[in-house]
Amino acid sequence: MTAMAENVTEPLLEGRKVSKYFGGLAAVHRVDFAVHPQEIVGLVGPNGSGKTTLFDCLSRLQPIDGGEVFFKGKNITKAKPYQVARMGLSRTFQVIRVYRKMTVLENMLISRQWQGQGILQMLRPSTKATEDRAHQLLDFLLLEDLTYEPAGYLSGGQRRLLEIGMALMPDPDLLLLDEATSGVNPTLIETIKDRILTLNREQGKAFLLIEHNIEFISDLCSRVYVLEFGKKLAEGTANEIMNNQAVIEAYFGAE
Ligand SMILES: Nc1ncnc2c1ncn2[C@@H]1O[C@H](COP(=O)(O)OP(=O)(O)O)[C@@H](O)[C@H]1O
Ligand SMILES: [Mg+2]
Repeated sequence: MTAMAENVTEPLLEGRKVSKYFGGLAAVHRVDFAVHPQEIVGLVGPNGSGKTTLFDCLSRLQPIDGGEVFFKGKNITKAKPYQVARMGLSRTFQVIRVYRKMTVLENMLISRQWQGQGILQMLRPSTKATEDRAHQLLDFLLLEDLTYEPAGYLSGGQRRLLEIGMALMPDPDLLLLDEATSGVNPTLIETIKDRILTLNREQGKAFLLIEHNIEFISDLCSRVYVLEFGKKLAEGTANEIMNNQAVIEAYFGAE
């Protein structure tokens, strides 16, 4: 399904009162949010505010304890990870998940595993089309010179790019990137920013970005959600949230 075929007024992804509890801890509490087709949205908040847990719920790696999530108008609250991956939702991880001893290309080819499609699919030989796509993406991400190197040989930033490449393999419409700039040098941060913008402008891909880098957020995101203790504290443009007193206090403490 292409982005053009969709009703632009309908959210691509929508969460209604999404909640996730770990014992007595409300890691995510009744959070409403939406990402529209071709939109780049930020998700920020202090450490432990529930951002990664929300991604785990959306990519269906964690059960959702309350509320509902819709993707392309379908209720995915109880879907399996491979089902949402096939529908066009991909993610990366805060703690990078690449096989360090496998080559960059091999990581790209088994990336379906991260989308929850299981070990059997992972062991199936890849097709020529899959390999061609992997090479094209490595080229796009400026990793082509490292194609046959072990992934452990890559810098932090190059591994973030590789993980974005792995998430792009199934050609998703929405990418959830968890701290894509953390541990990345300034030059590669610019590369990641530029690649996200290109994917957005030329292919209409939507993004939900967990970020601590406020300049990155301002440059990319049309809207930002702020979480604090699992609850939505604020939403608005990057400029609005940076000037929001409650947000300033959440980050720096009350004066
Ligand atoms: N698997 C888990 N079991 C118990 N508590 C968890 C688990 N994952 C996260 N938490 C807790 O949930 C809260 C939110 O964590 P997390 O989503 O990782 O925050 P963030 O990504 O915003 O830093 C934290 O208090 C964290 O300790
Ligand atoms: Mg996190």
